[in-house]
Amino acid sequence: MSFNLHHRDYLKEIDFTARELGFLLDLARDLKRAKYSGTEIPRLTGKNIALIFEKTSTRTRCAFEVAAYDQGAHTTYLDPSSSQIGHKESAADTARVLSRFYDAIEFRGAAQATVETLAEYADVPVYNGLTDEWHPTQMLADFLTMIEHGHGKPIEEISYCYLGDARSNMGHSLYVMGAIMEADVRIAAPRELWPSEEIQKIAAERAADSGARLTLTDDPAEGLAGADYVHTDVWVSMGEPKEVWDQRVALLRPYQVNAAALEATSNPRARFMHCLPAFHDTRTVVGHDIAEKTGMTDGLEVTDEVFESKANIAFDQAENRLHTIKAVMVATIGG
Ligand code: CP
Ligand code: NVA
Repeated sequence: MSFNLHHRDYLKEIDFTARELGFLLDLARDLKRAKYSGTEIPRLTGKNIALIFEKTSTRTRCAFEVAAYDQGAHTTYLDPSSSQIGHKESAADTARVLSRFYDAIEFRGAAQATVETLAEYADVPVYNGLTDEWHPTQMLADFLTMIEHGHGKPIEEISYCYLGDARSNMGHSLYVMGAIMEADVRIAAPRELWPSEEIQKIAAERAADSGARLTLTDDPAEGLAGADYVHTDVWVSMGEPKEVWDQRVALLRPYQVNAAALEATSNPRARFMHCLPAFHDTRTVVGHDIAEKTGMTDGLEVTDEVFESKANIAFDQAENRLHTIKAVMVATIGG
């Protein structure tokens, strides 16, 4: 092999080349096929993986745990109330302790700086399970899903449009991952919610390198025209105060993914994607409260109509968290 990912951290997309990310996507596809056909070979037997979650999770935690078990590894889940990290012990000290017990450490929390510090001080690979800045494990699942639904289209022919808060982890990651992978990336968001100039510069540099086409616009129609995939995310991310909802709804209402948005792609095969969880009805506490306040009873970032339609591939995307996270662990600590 001319390169390998053994012992590498997985902290953010920009640490990787398109070839390395492509390798992880190929490996995920192989691992998915092996699981489906009952031919999976455990390559993490006897390994122990620490899962630190400062923020809540369903998919990421379950994906790490099931992927580890499928491959013969064990996990320890640490939530904010059951470890000393952050309040009584620094990230640097935590990393040095956990490296003596574990073969890899996953971290989800607010600050990218925390996961970078863990990686600096740990002797074992550290994985970013989401920070306010990046969601790199999600990107592998998103790209695997777009490849699978692409009817054989190579990545460089895939176009996708993200509608929503583009200053968030998902906005950043979809922008930069597409730039690295040579995709046709459109980000449609109000200017107040555009990625910072620093992120725009990173994306532009990687796009210049790869040949990716980048569009950053406040016009949803411009972003959506011809897109194969329409992505969105919650309008208010974990850790943001609930007071921002009013302003966020006012800004993002024109960027809702509804039937008209899918029609604006002029692509009958356009598919809807969402990292989940999604506010598409009033059956959650937050969904119910915001719907009551705003009168948006048929969904927030996505309407229930689109969410419950055949265009929605978000559950395939959710499943792919498992196969792609497994690929990251097998590639970095597999025997
Ligand atoms: N998409 C995602 O990261 O989901 P969780 O917050 O449930 O892990
Ligand atoms: N932007 C969202 C992503 C959730 C997976 C958040 O950070 O809450």
